[in-house]
Formats: sequence, structure tokens, C-alpha cells
Amino acid sequence: MNPVEIRPGVFWVGVNDRVTDLFEGLWPISREGISYNSYLIRDEKTALIDLSKEVLTDDYLAQLSGVLDIASLDYVVINHMEPDHSGVLVRLRELAPNAILLGMPKTVRMLNDFYGITDNIEQLSNGQELSLGKNTLRFVYTPFVHWPETMMTYMVEQGVLFPCDGFGGYGALDGAIFDDTCADLAYFEAEALRYFTNIVAAYSKSVLSAIGKFAGLPIEMVAPAHGLIWRKDPGRIIELYETWSTYYREPAEVGITALFGTMYRNTERALSAALDGIEAEGVPVKVYDVRKSHVSYMLSDLWTRRGVLVAAPTYEGGLFPDMMNALAMADRKHVAHKTAAFLGSKAWGGGAQNDFEAMAQRMGWDVVGGFDFLGGPDAGDLDRARAMGQQLARAIKT
Ligand SMILES: Cc1cc2nc3c(=O)[nH]c(=O)nc-3n(C[C@H](O)[C@H](O)[C@H](O)COP(=O)(O)O)c2cc1C
Ligand SMILES: [Fe+2]
Ligand SMILES: [Fe+2]
Repeated sequence: MNPVEIRPGVFWVGVNDRVTDLFEGLWPISREGISYNSYLIRDEKTALIDLSKEVLTDDYLAQLSGVLDIASLDYVVINHMEPDHSGVLVRLRELAPNAILLGMPKTVRMLNDFYGITDNIEQLSNGQELSLGKNTLRFVYTPFVHWPETMMTYMVEQGVLFPCDGFGGYGALDGAIFDDTCADLAYFEAEALRYFTNIVAAYSKSVLSAIGKFAGLPIEMVAPAHGLIWRKDPGRIIELYETWSTYYREPAEVGITALFGTMYRNTERALSAALDGIEAEGVPVKVYDVRKSHVSYMLSDLWTRRGVLVAAPTYEGGLFPDMMNALAMADRKHVAHKTAAFLGSKAWGGGAQNDFEAMAQRMGWDVVGGFDFLGGPDAGDLDRARAMGQQLARAIKT
């Protein structure tokens, strides 16, 4: 894609990553891709905000050289040191040896730790401003969105916020880079949610505190380092992130995520009965087979729905392994304030239910029902499953 002038003198010079299969080595993006958005401000002085991952260095520099004599670059604003944004730095410095790197104190240390860079650095303090000519950049320290050094940059005169990972999302940009020109906004919002739950949600409190730091400031454009640029409705992505972040401390929306795993379909039959019970209460449910879906996708629903139904058999005295892994990731991401229920098949001593209950207790979930049964579910087990589904649905409606 070519550079795009997103505001007078401000250019998107990002690149799309359609090569990486697992973002952060964990989260599937084979189908979706991701963009590393970078921004160039051409004023009396020139500044780059956020960069790109190393694997795309050639693409990035080619893109940049279309709108800048790279050797003349004055500043590089480092909102965040994660290598998906700083990976091109060593190469960039070879081409622009006089450029000054700007970042918070922890960034200064990390520049040395990651790249051995110790010179041409200016350490910033929270709220510090830098005039580029017509435009002023203000650097706001927003720790733990989602690393300790993370900051956001606000372009004062034009009301543009460069929040780096904050307000970002998965999904390569297919030509259109704005909220009002992309073909499928709902898709990008869903991918922003998945990105939020995968990358940022564990630091929801920090997100809310970062949002608070910009309250009352005019924001006419949100230009994150991943995903769409929000110019028609910049408040939209901030509101979404704000709403999602509140779920770390209070119950989320009315709805259930049903996770199931099964070897021989006995558990699945009982699950179907439980789903009938949920349906009878008119509560929306999203079903995931933990063997077939990556937990990355499950997290979007686990985070935003207040109910969880776990259906899995006993395997070697414990919970079916893929289910254990899914719940362990939910725990890692601090999925809390859930109302939950369990069912599963066993052949002798069981053990899955115990593991589930231990995990639920760890995460502070409120368990409203749970049972296991021997072999295939009989009529009584199916009735019980149906009733438990209904009970779970009722519990989250009140
Ligand atoms: C490898 C393996 C290990 C198992 N371990 C246990 C166990 O420790 N305790 C138990 O009660 N059942 C155990 N079972 C039996 C299953 O829980 C039982 O077959 C159940 O009906 C499977 O449910 P599903 O049809 O939903 O897969 C095991 C089954 C397999 C294949
Ligand atoms: Fe990051
Ligand atoms: Fe990132």
C-alpha cells in the first residue's frame, strides 16, 4: 500500500503483515493478518511515531522513502518497545543516524537491553511537549497498556491521538485504512475485541486509567499502531475499549459461552440438552469445541459474556486436556466475575468436575451447578442437563 496523508502533514506509512501465523507467537492471525501502522509527521522537523516489525523492514523502508528523505529524519517517537513496533530501529538508525529517539525512562533502558542503543536518545517525562513547527506533540505516560514503558502521543493542534497498542485490532488493512472507508466495520470491531482480550485485557485497569488521562481533551482522530484509523467516529473505539475494560471488575453482558470437549460424544449429548435449557430462557449462547477453536477466539466471548458452561469428560483423573488449557488461559487473562456450570461424562472415578471447580474457584467464578455421569447420558442425566442449562441462564439474567 502507498503512504496516505491522514491529516495535513501527517502520513500513514504502515505495512501489512500477512506472513506471520501467530501474533506474539501465540495468537492466530493466519487468516486475518495484522497491520503495523506507523506515522510520519512532516513539519519544520520530521518525526516518526511507531515503527514496524523487523520481518517487514524492506517493505517499511520502501514505503517511508516515498514520502521522506530518510537521512533527514529528526525524531523517532517510541510509544512502545515491543519488537512489532521497534524491530526496524537498528536498520532505520543506519539510514538516519542523526534521528533522536524519544521515549519514557523505561524505554531508554529497553533500547539498550533489546538493541544495544545508547546514544541519540532523549528521555521524556509525563506530559512533556515537543514542537515540530506548526504541530506540538505531547507525550503521556500510560504504563501497562500493555508494557511498563508504554506511552501515548497526542498531537495537540490537530487533536490526533497515537495510542500505539491501545485501541488497536487484528486484521490487515485491505486498502482502506479508515473506519469510514473500510468495507466491513463489524469485522474490524470484532477483531479489535479479539486483540483486546488477547493482548490488553489483563491490564484493563491500566486501560481505564489511560483513557482517564485524555478525558476532556478534543480527540478528532485515533491512530493506533494496529488496525483501523478512527476519524469518522474516534469516540467509538475508545468507548468500546472502555466498556470491555470494565468487565475486569464487574459482570459482562447477558450471554453464555459454552465450551465443550469430547472424545466419544457422550458429553456432547448432555451439552445439547443443556443448550436446550438455555434456549428456553432466551439467553444468547456461543458454543466452542475446545479441540477445534483456538482459545484466542474463545476469549472474545468469555470476556464479554457473563455466563460460562463447561462441558468436558474426565481424562486420566482430571479435566479433558484441551479444556484445562482453555481455562488456564482464561485464568491467565483474568477472566473474572463469571457465573458458571459444569457437566461431563466419566467411566469410573471421575475427576473432571474437581478440576473445573478448582479452576472456577481460582478465577472467583460463581458456580451454580455441576454434575458428572457414567458413560452415556440416560434420560435422567439429560433432564438434569436441561435443568442446569436453564438454571445457569436464569442466574445470569437476574
Ligand atoms: C485416555 C482416557 C483416560 C480416561 N481417564 C478416565 C479417568 O481417569 N476417570 C474416569 O472416570 N474416566 C476416564 N476415562 C473415561 C471417559 O471419561 C469416558 O469414556 C467418558 O464417557 C468420555 O466422555 P466423552 O464421550 O464425552 O468423550 C478416560 C478415557 C480415556 C480415553
Ligand atoms: Fe505490544
Ligand atoms: Fe503491538
